[in-house]
Amino acid sequence: MTVSLPSIAILGTGSMGGAILSGLVRDGVEAESITVTNRSVAKAAALASDKVVSLATETDAAANLAAVRGARVVLIGVKPAMVPDLLREIAPALEPDAILVSVAAGVTIATMEALVPGSVLRSMPNTPAVVGRAVTGVAAGTRSTDEELAIVTSVFETVGEVLVIPEEKIDALSTISGSGPAYVFYLVEELTRTARDLGFSENEAATMVNGTFLGAAELLVSSGVDPAELRRRVTSPKGTTERAIGVLQEAALKETFDRATAAALVRAKELAAGN
Ligand SMILES: NC(=O)c1ccc[n+]([C@@H]2O[C@H](COP(=O)([O-])OP(=O)(O)OC[C@H]3O[C@@H](n4cnc5c(N)ncnc54)[C@H](OP(=O)(O)O)[C@@H]3O)[C@@H](O)[C@H]2O)c1
Repeated sequence: MTVSLPSIAILGTGSMGGAILSGLVRDGVEAESITVTNRSVAKAAALASDKVVSLATETDAAANLAAVRGARVVLIGVKPAMVPDLLREIAPALEPDAILVSVAAGVTIATMEALVPGSVLRSMPNTPAVVGRAVTGVAAGTRSTDEELAIVTSVFETVGEVLVIPEEKIDALSTISGSGPAYVFYLVEELTRTARDLGFSENEAATMVNGTFLGAAELLVSSGVDPAELRRRVTSPKGTTERAIGVLQEAALKETFDRATAAALVRAKELAAGN
């Protein structure tokens, strides 16, 4: 099935903007046009293709203005601190029906709506967007319509799953799915270290641990069975896994995750306050 999208501009096409671009150019997605910008010429050159016009502000000071002209969706992918200046810059060039959507952490819809006319939405994708497995939270603005929300949802669905949530929940979502890949990588790192200490080579440890995370995640998703039930199926009464799980339960992981996400939430509020 082909997904049809309107003309799109991505302003700031680095790690996250680039990940979303990879979804927009994949087979089965047809955007009317795609224009992306970056600061450096080298980065811009690497993104140009038959589907993508790629501009650099280094050589073309008006690159962002050129990109938003004719664009229905304008995705803001620069660092949070740069968002207000960029929005001031592009405001006069935005099309009357432009839908502006930012991926910047901590920059509120109210801040953005004060700087540009028209429709503004906010989103929080995560890095598995690079492999088409993102989870993205999308929040509508006070001036965006359901149709505009649907268009933005389709854009992020090119790189994974989308949850539409109220803006008040964006920071909380970020502590789960935004930061979440780091939690998973950390668990992988620590279990890999244990495998190494048990005498396995780096490659063997990586095969066991990465393969187990991938296999367990696929089993979870494809079976549709509750994770607690899947865990029970691995945990025979009086068996070895039961002993290991008993030790993990002593580590009070739920409380640890509560504290970790609470710490991330405090930091999100600090960042939003400009600290
Ligand atoms: N990475 C994540 O996991 C993640 C997750 C969710 C949300 N986000 C959000 O995504 C945004 C970008 O983060 P990132 O990690 O992708 O950063 P990044 O890789 O540094 O990307 C930012 C890009 O903006 C470009 N840029 C700088 N000034 C510009 C200008 N005036 N006009 C156009 N482009 C300009 C930079 O180009 P040069 O490199 O050439 O200077 C760079 O490619 C942030 O707001 C962040 O909060 C990131």
